[in-house]
Amino acid sequence: MTILVTGAAGFIGANFVLDWLALSQETVINLDKLTYAGNLETLSSLQGDARHIFVQGDIGDAELVSRLLAEHQPRAVLNFAAESHVDRSIHGPGDFIETNIVGTFRLLESVRGYWSALPEQEKSAFRFLHVSTDEVYGSLSKDDPAFAETNRYEPNSPYSASKAASDHLVRAWHHTYGLPVLTTNCSNNYGPYHFPEKLIPLMIVNALAGKPLPVYGDGMQIRDWLYVKDHCSAIRRVLEAGRLGETYNVGGWNEKPNIEIVNTVCKLLDELRPKADGSSYATQITYVTDRPGHDRRYAIDARKLEAELGWKPAETFESGIRKTVEWYLANPQWVSNVQSGAYRDWVSKQYA
Ligand code: NAD
Ligand code: TYD
Repeated sequence: MTILVTGAAGFIGANFVLDWLALSQETVINLDKLTYAGNLETLSSLQGDARHIFVQGDIGDAELVSRLLAEHQPRAVLNFAAESHVDRSIHGPGDFIETNIVGTFRLLESVRGYWSALPEQEKSAFRFLHVSTDEVYGSLSKDDPAFAETNRYEPNSPYSASKAASDHLVRAWHHTYGLPVLTTNCSNNYGPYHFPEKLIPLMIVNALAGKPLPVYGDGMQIRDWLYVKDHCSAIRRVLEAGRLGETYNVGGWNEKPNIEIVNTVCKLLDELRPKADGSSYATQITYVTDRPGHDRRYAIDARKLEAELGWKPAETFESGIRKTVEWYLANPQWVSNVQSGAYRDWVSKQYA
């Protein structure tokens, strides 16, 4: 059996494929455009493994996707491919519209063409799983209950608006054409191979380089954090047993203000890699101008996934963040290779 996974040279997709191939014998076709966020070095341990077939390409390339589907006959398509960074979406929304909306539409059409011609048994077993975000629900006030699947979509950034649009397309392809879809909406992930433009890896990398740790606004914005491997286990579970056409919120009940995250990272680094002068990495914290339209709070109510499918995260925030910091300390080469690419140009402009 085979699955086709898009965007699997990125942070979550790569973690998903590494875990999948450690647990299963099924072949993975990995379709990734290799944007600045795609990094095949993350998958270097799979070199020579015939179960991983990498294809560089765009989810919006209908000819390529249709050919891959016809050739490999996957039993499922999992769509991780996206432009994923809110700050980038503010500075240049075009690629977000192109990949997250138009790309998802084209992918859905290619998949629909393949799926509708399958023999009955394969057709009913087929799944299209769309990986999305809690950011589609907008921002919560301090006392609001966490986002449930029934919350209204109120996206606020170009990124979240583009993901919301893609979720709606996926939903419509189910209701209109009967495509067997599943959607997951997950909270903020962290863990190994996270591109150092996002909060946690950026703080680790900047701290070690003696650079400022830029905290936006007052640092009291709240995010709900989930260790990436727990997100991957949730996706496997939804793929296996999710009800068709349903959406599942994925989260680990770990709401934290950003400043607490940054302080935790600094404390771990103080313990694991103390500075020569004995000062704390926290002295590098610098409050900077806030992100425009910055959502104040995200929080995921994961009870549906827990109750219906029996999923639970394996890591607490404390265990996951320690593993993450340890991973970055043990993999400086991965970090420096990532930083020598397009990332460096963009970040130097952004924080000039
Ligand atoms: P990422 O930016 O690290 O990786 C995205 C990958 O998609 C990259 O490898 C990139 O090369 C590829 N890609 C981009 N455009 C493409 C295209 N047109 N065709 C083919 N490949 C393309 O992102 P991530 O953090 O791994 O996120 C993966 C998915 O999970 C995204 O859909 C994102 O919206 C969603 N998500 C992310 C988080 C998070 O905290 N990172 C949380 C919830 C949901
Ligand atoms: P980020 O990792 O970009 O994820 P998202 O915007 O999708 O939640 O940011 C997480 C939080 O950290 C968000 O509230 C913005 C904030 N942040 C900073 O304060 N400083 C930074 O340098 C970055 C990248 C983010």
